[in-house]
Amino acid sequence: MKVYLDNAATTPMDSEVLDAMLPYMKEHYGNPSSIHAFGRKTRSAIEGARKIVAKALNVAPGEIFFTSGGTEADNMAICMTMETLGIKHAITSKIEHHAVEHTLQVLEREGKIKLSWVNIDEKGNVDLEHLEELLKTNDRTLVSLMHANNEIGTLLPIVKVGEICSKYNAVFHSDTVQTMGHYLIEPKNIKAHFVTCGAHKFHGPKGVGFLYIDNSIKIKPMIHGGAQERNMRGGTENVIGIIGLAKAIELATAHMNEHQIHISGLKKYMKEQLELAIAGVEFNGETGENSLYTVLNCRFPNTENAEMLLFNLDIAGIAASGGSACSSGSNQGSHVLRGLGIDMNRPSVRFSFSKYNTKEEIDFTVNKLKELFAVRVTA
Ligand SMILES: Cc1ncc(COP(=O)(O)O)c(C=O)c1O
Repeated sequence: MKVYLDNAATTPMDSEVLDAMLPYMKEHYGNPSSIHAFGRKTRSAIEGARKIVAKALNVAPGEIFFTSGGTEADNMAICMTMETLGIKHAITSKIEHHAVEHTLQVLEREGKIKLSWVNIDEKGNVDLEHLEELLKTNDRTLVSLMHANNEIGTLLPIVKVGEICSKYNAVFHSDTVQTMGHYLIEPKNIKAHFVTCGAHKFHGPKGVGFLYIDNSIKIKPMIHGGAQERNMRGGTENVIGIIGLAKAIELATAHMNEHQIHISGLKKYMKEQLELAIAGVEFNGETGENSLYTVLNCRFPNTENAEMLLFNLDIAGIAASGGSACSSGSNQGSHVLRGLGIDMNRPSVRFSFSKYNTKEEIDFTVNKLKELFAVRVTA
């Protein structure tokens, strides 16, 4: 049996998404900037896709800008806010994805901004009083806080954060890469100026995403070139990717409730089964209502390192992860778990679920873990 429980890293593409993309790989190959019929066909497909995305977020199509994914969207929001709006102060947290954390740190190192870190508790919850304190005592600020953490799943009280930002006239960017397609995200209700998306997190293709920019904010482009994306991102559009993204968000939105019930059921079941099977297992981050239903981060009662445990799971056909896929090659352990003060001597493993996972796969995984720990205890 092969079990894929690393859906926070990426998800398998839905066959309906692939079907929507195929004609644009075969017969509809015109450059969307060309004025002839071939070009007009792909141009209208892109604008149709933009409308689908805008509808899912309840915003205007003109507020959606297609990018190469979540990383580019985060970079564009952060760097171009600082450059265009003359903002010199940013607030973020120690558990942001590197797409946000490293971008802000580069700006800080270059002397372009002052960076403040809002306090978080050991489960990754943001201290809202501290956030207010930081906003009160600084000039106009960019607040960048993720909607759900990709490693531990803790959810931000995003509406409250939006209200606080609005009270202090701050610009609010939220990395919604892990929640897009899994929750209804309406930037106007959240009072967010920017939200971001990577299509591959909800059964869309890799290498495509978007940045939502609220109409009230005008920033300069980050990538210069042609007039694509209304002069906001030069370069021939990733037509195939954009078509796939739109199909994926359409499907995710249409079936959101049913997927949420199925996946949160699997997460709850796995947590209960692990608690029964392995004495001393604990969980990193929030696991109840305040947590992303696709992620369960487990801390096991063993001094064996996490790499060994992941290796043994891999041998058994089970794919999980020690943290963010993007930093797994860096061999420094998870910056998120370190940021939370988690005991790094105990192996932590992130299991993340999708609509395609089954209860049988969870049973198989829990049994394998039970075996692995039984061997270690008796060895
Ligand atoms: C929270 C978060 N932000 C940003 C990204 C980067 O997105 P992409 O892979 O589309 O560049 C990821 C992907 O792992 C993520 O989980």
